[in-house]
Amino acid sequence: MLTNDQLAKWDRENFFHPSTNLGQFARGEGPQRIVTGGSGVHITDRDGTQLLDGFAGLYCVNVGYGRTEISEAIAKQAHELAYYHAYAGHGSEASITLSKMVMDRAPKNMARVYFGLGGSDANETNIKLIWYYNNILGRPEKKKIISRWRGYHGSGLMTGSLTGLELFHKKFDLPLAQVIHTEAPYYFRRPDLTMSEAQFTAHCVAELEALIEREGPDTIAAFIGEPVLGTGGIVPPPEGYWPAIQEVLDKHDILLVVDEVVTGFGRLGSMFGSDHYGVKPDLITSAKGLTSAYAPLSASIVGQRMWDVLCRGTDEYGVLGHGWTYSAHPIGAAAGIANLELIDKLGLVENAAKTGAYLVSTMREALGDHPNVGEVRGEGMLCAVELVAERDGRRFFDASEGKGAKVVAAMLERGVIARAMPQGDILGFAPPLCLTTEEADKIVSVTRDAVTAILG
Ligand SMILES: Cc1ncc(COP(=O)(O)O)c(C=O)c1O
Repeated sequence: MLTNDQLAKWDRENFFHPSTNLGQFARGEGPQRIVTGGSGVHITDRDGTQLLDGFAGLYCVNVGYGRTEISEAIAKQAHELAYYHAYAGHGSEASITLSKMVMDRAPKNMARVYFGLGGSDANETNIKLIWYYNNILGRPEKKKIISRWRGYHGSGLMTGSLTGLELFHKKFDLPLAQVIHTEAPYYFRRPDLTMSEAQFTAHCVAELEALIEREGPDTIAAFIGEPVLGTGGIVPPPEGYWPAIQEVLDKHDILLVVDEVVTGFGRLGSMFGSDHYGVKPDLITSAKGLTSAYAPLSASIVGQRMWDVLCRGTDEYGVLGHGWTYSAHPIGAAAGIANLELIDKLGLVENAAKTGAYLVSTMREALGDHPNVGEVRGEGMLCAVELVAERDGRRFFDASEGKGAKVVAAMLERGVIARAMPQGDILGFAPPLCLTTEEADKIVSVTRDAVTAILG
């Protein structure tokens, strides 16, 4: 039996953690937590500390921790058939059943689902399919992808380029040349404080139009966006944003990729964010909520107009040269089936709408008047508290002060996990969709105490 200290030491000496300050961690500085268990909305660490996970891992454990329905489905699948590939028409009962369940829930214009492993690889697949599509249509110059500043779409070469956050570009030689960024639909950070929400939407649309004109519509293949900006700050779109964007894209024959890695399967209180905001995607990216992270699995859901062209392409050029060894992994698929069944059985989409709205409104009541709270916002089971140095004139704190991170650390000491979003002093909340009103109350009271402790 390992002692806890040995584990901690091995961790510092051997483990290359993602999104971590590497040197600090290796020197024994900075946070380290060894998580040993979870139940409902709580996790437990090796020291016996229990924490209310207000961010559902990385907004992914949507059904909550410790669901035996899913772990038993995984165990059963592992016993029966842990693996077989999905190339050349092979499948498993689990992957085929899950494909039917996903398509039954997807927006009406979607045609097929391709399974990968995580959100980054699903977006990678989507961009490849878009390039293939335009080559088959004889438009080899129509290849650029428009993304938004503050969008998050992964951290690979292409997906890290699509991501519009400084941290993911700096010193990595990103973004790649095929990716261009447009205005973030972030009303609180609008360039001109006198703008109304509708005027700001018109401004975002005008910026997009101008970018398309500058680059040439014949060079632009697709636009990618999250229904609600996630890692960029948890920001619901301004009034009328999505229909207005869709109109511009349709006018220039530009495909729409809706990145629903966070919003897919219930988080907004609707099965998909595309339906929530009434947009018609050509491709949907999904991962996290598909299995509630009980096993890795992602989905690229392909719309009918793309599917028809992909079929034409393979009729002409043969087998599609795209796939991963672990595409449609049976264990991920078994987890997905059990997870989607559980979401229905427990009414979690409805609870995300109801308890999510309660969380946001209680947070607003508790903190909306604090002099260092610029905005409390949210949609479904997503909520953010944006901190400012001064409300009047919307003056932000200097990033070096790390106010957001300090409040999040103070919350941890009080037993609640929130996320300090990477760009700005923004406290992010994305609890499991099974959150109760009592648990929401605890998140709010701990947030208020921590904000008061750090900012007065
Ligand atoms: C909207 C969005 N897209 C893509 C990704 C990338 O997913 P993954 O980390 O599984 O590669 C994320 C991850 O947080 C995300 O939030």
